[in-house]
Amino acid sequence: MDWGLKNRISGIIRPPDGKAVMLAVDHGYFLGPTEKLEAPARAIRPLLRHCDSLMVTRGVLRSSVSATQHIPIVLRVSGGSSIIGEDLSNERITTGIKDALRLNSSALAMSIFVGAKHEHRTIVSLGRLVNEAEEYGMPVLAVTAVGKDMGKDARYLSLACRIAAEQGAHIIKTYYCENFEKVIESCPVPVIIAGGKKIPERDALHLTYNAVNAGAVGVDMGRNIWQSENPVPMIRAVRAIVHGNMKADEAYELYQRLSKPEHAKARA
Ligand code: 5RP
Repeated sequence: MDWGLKNRISGIIRPPDGKAVMLAVDHGYFLGPTEKLEAPARAIRPLLRHCDSLMVTRGVLRSSVSATQHIPIVLRVSGGSSIIGEDLSNERITTGIKDALRLNSSALAMSIFVGAKHEHRTIVSLGRLVNEAEEYGMPVLAVTAVGKDMGKDARYLSLACRIAAEQGAHIIKTYYCENFEKVIESCPVPVIIAGGKKIPERDALHLTYNAVNAGAVGVDMGRNIWQSENPVPMIRAVRAIVHGNMKADEAYELYQRLSKPEHAKARA
């Protein structure tokens, strides 16, 4: 593998354990000012030292993350639809490779919508993005997005992940589901999981544990971290599972302990 590509990937999937804690804050690209991400800088700042990489759009990166911050950037380069628009799958590449390089990105991220109206376009865009990105030693993260009417079962997610891998994606983000081992077995490149909609912290930690136990290399998690009552304790608990092999219930105890007022005071 090309040195630059390998080097960039190693900033995201970290040696020595080959695991990844990616903080997802790109939601505004189609959700606008999502709850608790209304002021991105405020949400992101305390979490940065606890993640391995940050998934973000160029607009939020430029405006809300200090350029002196040394954090690998996974740059969301697709967009074009909104939560109130007619079709979430109607995305194109909106951010060019030159801008990604200027922003010192470590990877590009885009969504594919398998089974949706614009399936064809998003899959072809992924193949083209890989062609272009590889010229610069830049990895591509494929997001297996789920449109309004699509289910999130192992059959569908295996199909979407495998198609992304066949197009040359270097890392794939998908959702955890029952029989997740099947998704992992049939996907020849590393898989990370999104957290999805906010659920109770204990459940989100179980989801993380189950996904990693089934073979995911880590998380690309957003809402279950920054929409938590206690975002820093939550990301630290997620990290303890991903990098520290902690069991879910122990991680939840850690979350509770770190959420106590004396810890909050120490963070302030
Ligand atoms: C939106 C995304 C998000 O980054 C992804 O869904 C991860 O965030 P969350 O854990 O909140 O689901 O790619 O398309």
